[in-house]
Amino acid sequence: MSLSEQTIRIIKSTAPVLAEQGDAITRHFYQQMSNHNPELMNVFSISNQQTDRQQVALADAIQCYAAYIDNPPALKDAVERFAQKHASFTLQPEQYSIVGKYLIEAAAYVLKDTATDETLAAWREAYQLLANLFIEIEEGVYRQCESTDGSWQGTREFRVAARVAENELITSFYFEPVDGRPVVNFLPGQHIGLSLKPENSGYRCIRQYSLSDAPNGKTYRISVKRETDCEKEGLISNYLHDSVQVGDIVELCPPTGEFVLDVEASSPVVLLSGGVGQTPIMSMLNTLAQTSRQVRYVHSAQNSKVHAFGAHTKAVANKHDNVEQIVFYNAPTADCSGHDYNGIMNMEAIRNRIELPNAHYYFCGPLGFMAMVNRTLKSWGVPKENIHFEVFGPHKEI
Ligand SMILES: Cc1cc2nc3c(=O)[nH]c(=O)nc-3n(C[C@H](O)[C@H](O)[C@H](O)COP(=O)(O)OP(=O)(O)OC[C@H]3O[C@@H](n4cnc5c(N)ncnc54)[C@H](O)[C@@H]3O)c2cc1C
Ligand code: HEM
Repeated sequence: MSLSEQTIRIIKSTAPVLAEQGDAITRHFYQQMSNHNPELMNVFSISNQQTDRQQVALADAIQCYAAYIDNPPALKDAVERFAQKHASFTLQPEQYSIVGKYLIEAAAYVLKDTATDETLAAWREAYQLLANLFIEIEEGVYRQCESTDGSWQGTREFRVAARVAENELITSFYFEPVDGRPVVNFLPGQHIGLSLKPENSGYRCIRQYSLSDAPNGKTYRISVKRETDCEKEGLISNYLHDSVQVGDIVELCPPTGEFVLDVEASSPVVLLSGGVGQTPIMSMLNTLAQTSRQVRYVHSAQNSKVHAFGAHTKAVANKHDNVEQIVFYNAPTADCSGHDYNGIMNMEAIRNRIELPNAHYYFCGPLGFMAMVNRTLKSWGVPKENIHFEVFGPHKEI
């Protein structure tokens, strides 16, 4: 199926009004959908709705779709990324009809006379085209899951085999499958979807957590930061810390994600992390330590109290000649030791150690940290295809 010239023209002409009214449309959309199809609130994060992150991400995506409707290659990466995100929630094709219905109704409600029958018909057609594209990519992901040893579709029960406090804020949870069968060997950098229903929540909640160790075919480890900084505590991270104990059962969606280490390559790798952004990087580091590839591991934490895995990464660097570690503490305490630099990560100060020919750079951390890393790498002339990063939340351009 492709869109007619006329439909493309109409959709493109709505891009400016969507730039202005997109947020209002997506707010109305979520309100109506949660009133009439509350079961979908088991899928969408309520917190991301309350903080408007979901509304803004969806409005941006729709506006972008309208603006580039006549240039499909420009949309390819974003479509692939969102489909991967959807697949990590194991979305089903029938859910697209529900979302489509409320989106078009919300556009009609908010745009009033601007949304003529002709415009709404064009949007129905364009929505269906996009939905079909998502469904096709997501089905490919599910099929691949089905055909990979140890994988599964939907959710699978796992038991908490251990929990380890890595520091004051981060605790690791080790999961083993209740059915005792093997678990799929994910690619370093990928994450699982964890589905839980806390007693104090009316809905099940799904959150993504990066797998924080190298794959071993038997168990998974995630490492979760307790989110306490904002005016309202994070629901699932606090529930995991306070209430989920060894022996408890959780449901996991299979590993997904495009932020993955190319395990076949032999090029040098520079890993950079800030705070809990360390988790996918740990999986990469532990995998790379078993190879002879040249690795630089650069981490930035506030101080030793909140520096997770510090002893482990130091031991890895000491044991493996191919791995070199550099640690920054931006708020060191009087007792801190073992770090290399005081202050926020300064890439220029370590440029001679991390600017390696043909290196691939993988980074994860707070948005400001990632923007700084990205900017610096670009200024050094590192090609785009050698730069890889993960955002812990709705995608943002950095
Ligand atoms: C690909 C991916 C990988 C990830 N990997 C990890 C990982 O390895 N480790 C890890 O710890 N996290 C990871 N995350 C983040 C994780 O998925 C959760 O987003 C995080 O644990 C917070 O979830 P929560 O339920 O505790 O917070 P939520 O309840 O979802 O709230 C999110 C944030 O908003 C704030 N908030 C909530 N409600 C309000 C409100 N009404 N007003 C103002 N602020 C509010 C909360 O304090 C919190 O900071 C990852 C995310 C992604 C997308
Ligand atoms: C064509 C239709 C759709 C579009 C354009 C769309 C777009 C998006 C975008 C842009 C994001 C943010 C991605 C990111 O985190 O970077 C997202 C996330 C998400 N989408 Fe969709 N989506 C569509 C359909 C659906 C459907 C049918 C469902 C399920 C009912 C769904 C469920 C979700 C969920 C659960 C998330 C994660 C939200 C969160 O973390 O808060 N989406 N989608």
